[in-house]
Amino acid sequence: MLDGKKTLFSGMQATGNLTLGNYLGALKNWVSLNEEYQCFFSVVDMHSITVRQDPAELRKRARALYTLYVAAGLDPEKNCIYYQSHVSGHAELAWILNCYTYMGELNRMTQFKDKSAKHEDNINAGLYTYPVLMAADILLYQTDVVPVGADQKQHLELARDIAARFNSIYGDVFTIPEPYIGKVGARIMSLQNPEKKMSKSDENPNASIYLTDDRDTVIRKFKRAVTDSLADVRYSDEQPGIKNLIDIYSATTMKTPAEIEKEFSGKGYGDFKLAVGEAVADMLKPLQDRIASLSKDKAYIDSMIKNNAEKASYLSNKTLRKVQKKVGFPEKIR
Ligand code: TYM
Repeated sequence: MLDGKKTLFSGMQATGNLTLGNYLGALKNWVSLNEEYQCFFSVVDMHSITVRQDPAELRKRARALYTLYVAAGLDPEKNCIYYQSHVSGHAELAWILNCYTYMGELNRMTQFKDKSAKHEDNINAGLYTYPVLMAADILLYQTDVVPVGADQKQHLELARDIAARFNSIYGDVFTIPEPYIGKVGARIMSLQNPEKKMSKSDENPNASIYLTDDRDTVIRKFKRAVTDSLADVRYSDEQPGIKNLIDIYSATTMKTPAEIEKEFSGKGYGDFKLAVGEAVADMLKPLQDRIASLSKDKAYIDSMIKNNAEKASYLSNKTLRKVQKKVGFPEKIR
């Protein structure tokens, strides 16, 4: 608890092009929650190198992601927005927590299984212990709540298990974090295969709406979205394509699925897809404009990156010191 507020932590990887899934499943909720909590939002570049990256490209994407957080409405003077690699406590705590995590637990992580199938030539130890680094991110700040999309739920549960295990040995060291998974938008699916989540790494660009897509591209991609032949805008598991479009429209406009079914009752898929495309394009345009103007203010972004790295380092040290002492590391001689 800082300044009488509970603590919120979340992060995103600076890998690939950010999608509408990242926005509706995570970033939008961060913005709506940020005033209520003491917030830490990290650009998790250390997680990114579990998959091979081009260094210059990674730096560029990390900067773009930082700018996106701010452009989306997170004030970096009120929220601690920083690069994970600037705060050494993440790696230090992750090492300790590795020694309190079982291989059996990591073997069960579905994202590890998916990613190792995708990157067969580079199944590195970092990819395997990635959820432990994520637990360290969260536990380092005594986090109460972690807003994420549904795909991160399993990692969150592991972070809770690790924290509880550590506490049961050493006393109340860590706050046990709660996931915050939004009611709408927590699982946005691919526009080309509604059985699969919308993902930055999808090879088919028509499967995802990127936050950088212009209006025509957004509308065209929704026009091409895979649906069905039932010709009925209904929120049903039997119509996964339409259900996904209703979820997107709902998370974008805040209308409920029932209201949306009513709005499009008797209308064709063409009308519905156009409405979804227009609503999403209208939402993205101001975001894109703010990114463009913020990107010009290099000095401001630089100063925020610097100040917040110092702030996060200072605050994370409190927990790190406590943990080091508990496990038996000798005190530094000053
Ligand atoms: P990442 O970078 O894959 O995704 C960032 C956030 O976007 C959400 N998300 C989605 N939500 C709904 N529908 C989708 N199709 C979709 N795709 C992605 C994710 O759930 C996530 O909230 N391991 C994390 C990053 C991370 C983290 C943390 C998060 C590292 N440390 C600590 C929270 C707390 C990841 O790779 O997210």
